[in-house]
Amino acid sequence: MNPKKLVRDFSVVKNIILNDRHFILELKAPEPLPEILPGQFVDVHVENSPGTFLRRPFSVYSVNYSGNSIRLLVQIRGEGTKHLGQLREKDQVNLIFPLGKPFTMPESENVLLVAGGVGIAPMMFLSQHLNSLGLRPDLLFGSRTNADLFEMDLFRIQCRNVFITTEDGSEGEKGFVTDHSVFRSQPFRYERIYCCGPDPMMHAVAKLAEKLGTDCEVSLENFMACGFGVCLCCITPTIHGNQRSCIEGPVFNTKVLTWH
Ligand SMILES: Cc1cc2nc3c(=O)[nH]c(=O)nc-3n(C[C@H](O)[C@H](O)[C@H](O)COP(=O)(O)OP(=O)(O)OC[C@H]3O[C@@H](n4cnc5c(N)ncnc54)[C@H](O)[C@@H]3O)c2cc1C
Ligand code: FES
Repeated sequence: MNPKKLVRDFSVVKNIILNDRHFILELKAPEPLPEILPGQFVDVHVENSPGTFLRRPFSVYSVNYSGNSIRLLVQIRGEGTKHLGQLREKDQVNLIFPLGKPFTMPESENVLLVAGGVGIAPMMFLSQHLNSLGLRPDLLFGSRTNADLFEMDLFRIQCRNVFITTEDGSEGEKGFVTDHSVFRSQPFRYERIYCCGPDPMMHAVAKLAEKLGTDCEVSLENFMACGFGVCLCCITPTIHGNQRSCIEGPVFNTKVLTWH
């Protein structure tokens, strides 16, 4: 892993508006990208937004080394993300990257990626990276409705099986990801679960993994301020004491988390 953090102005290649709450920002670096690993994130400076003093953290959604570009999948939550959604081709945006600890690479492709909502972002990059290692994982993606399922064609190429749940039943199995029948398959064949999504969902998946005797890594989306380990506002309780989500995380093995 490259421990060096870079601060660079990226230029917007395109901003793809997916629906009224989501967009994909493609950003080109001014020079060749360093190695970036799945689970790592970037801290984005939001310009011309007085209410957004702090940088905003986003998982890397995909990396194109030959084009020196990365993509971010963003859900509009407040002022900062609303401003980022208004960026257009050739606008500049300042990033600190790559930040945080990545996912651990598996021994085999027998792994299940579980995502809820915009927690799908690190899973796109994780499946892309596993493909580059010759591995095709399975994906279980839960969203509120099928209008929030993005780039599924790409996931179907990168993953062996794509399982879907929607809360309104508009696609896949109706309910939450933890209700999906893949968790009732006997024997449960996955060596590890990788999970990202809302906190209650990650808690529920962690509990299921424990019950099924499967290793589980989660990517936490704790509130962050500095993004590089000094303000301590992103801490999470672990068996090693409080750890900073921006440095020791955002990826944690659920065995070390003392959240339940
Ligand atoms: C490691 C990490 C990776 C993330 N990856 C993604 C991603 O790939 N795509 C995506 O859409 N979102 C991601 N998020 C969440 C994203 O950072 C917040 O939605 C964003 O910062 C909200 O900014 P805002 O100004 O629009 O909202 P605000 O108006 O500031 O707040 C709206 C809500 O967003 C949350 N929030 C605000 N600031 C932060 C912050 N600095 N860190 C975490 N949560 C915050 C608050 O809980 C609040 O309820 C990630 C967060 C973390 C910590
Ligand atoms: S965000 Fe400041 S220590 Fe993690």
